[in-house]
Amino acid sequence: MTQRSGCEEPAVLPPPSPPPARFLGVSIAGVGSYLPTSTITNADLGQRVDTSDEWIVTRTGIRERRIAAPDQATSDLAVHAAREALAQARLSPADLDLVILATATPDTPVPPGSAWLHRHLGAVNAAAMDISAACSGFLFAMHTGAGLVRAEMHRNVLVVGAETLTRITDYTDRATCILFGDGAGAAVIGQKGYLELLYSHIGTDSSGRDLITVPAGGSREPASAATVEGKRHFLQLQGREVFRRAVETMTRAGQAALDSLGMKVSDLAWLVPHQANLRITQAVASQFDLPPERVVGDMSGTGNTSAASLPIALNRLQGSGRLKPGDRIMLVAFGAGLTWACQVYENTGVPR
Ligand code: UT7
Repeated sequence: MTQRSGCEEPAVLPPPSPPPARFLGVSIAGVGSYLPTSTITNADLGQRVDTSDEWIVTRTGIRERRIAAPDQATSDLAVHAAREALAQARLSPADLDLVILATATPDTPVPPGSAWLHRHLGAVNAAAMDISAACSGFLFAMHTGAGLVRAEMHRNVLVVGAETLTRITDYTDRATCILFGDGAGAAVIGQKGYLELLYSHIGTDSSGRDLITVPAGGSREPASAATVEGKRHFLQLQGREVFRRAVETMTRAGQAALDSLGMKVSDLAWLVPHQANLRITQAVASQFDLPPERVVGDMSGTGNTSAASLPIALNRLQGSGRLKPGDRIMLVAFGAGLTWACQVYENTGVPR
């Protein structure tokens, strides 16, 4: 009979352990979204510029976008999304200690748009601030909020991405007016929730700062009769180059997240890229070799809602009932700046 030493290898090796989950002590406890009721269809745009439903659908996947009512500013959309997220988190506005609004279209340049949201919501115990990172704004704000929760400097943080892009869209420019729409999405984050944050990273490549711009209205080119006349308060876009960089950057950001977490693409249940153009989401999916059914490409009824796009898509994914316990979800954003961001969550399925 052979003597067994205490450190002998077992005859059958256990299966390789799953990739390390890096719970950061921050979770999403509730999500919400809001879209205004009025729409601008491709047919409507065909009345205004030289375009067609067929061109727009084929090149972008967009069929219609929502437009805020004349008396609705960005915070009026934001507050609906915020209330839905708070209800899901079973919190009241008074429970919040920080409100972060990600937007490129605040109600006013001064005060910050978040002050309007703070007022409408009645978040009397919270500080409120804006984050401006264009289409990456929601994830920049989530990154900031998550850091503050992790550092135990804030407890219940409301993050809202909201835009009224139709107010800065030139409806005589067919290259841009087909793309953008209005909407809002929100998430409540804290130490407890059901979507646990595993990874968060943000980045900027300012060499591309001229690719997506609103040239006037800031200190570089203050508002004047000439800037209004020259349509320099509207969004301008170098579409083809932005498209190329969006695919390349979101793919790189997603791969860096997988590498950092020691995960493979097959460990992801869902990829939710910024909803700008269906061809962009499909190209990113194909770079990752992901089947289309695991990639959220959901802009046909909204167009590109910039900072609102990811929380709207996440809320829809959750509302569809397709999110299962244990699912890992990657959110990846890209926008003016150029900015990009990536977060990975795990659905622990345990409500607050
Ligand atoms: O959130 C981040 C910010 N935005 C984006 O991510 C947007 C990224 N870019 C895009 O989505 C696409 O580049 C667009 C949808 C903006 C344009 O699609 P594209 O396939 O890149 O078209 P293109 O700019 O290369 O233009 C192709 C042709 C041009 O005509 P010519 O020069 O070939 O004769 C355009 O003038 O299509 C023409 N065109 C249109 N035709 C009908 C451009 N816009 C339109 C239009 N309808 N609306």
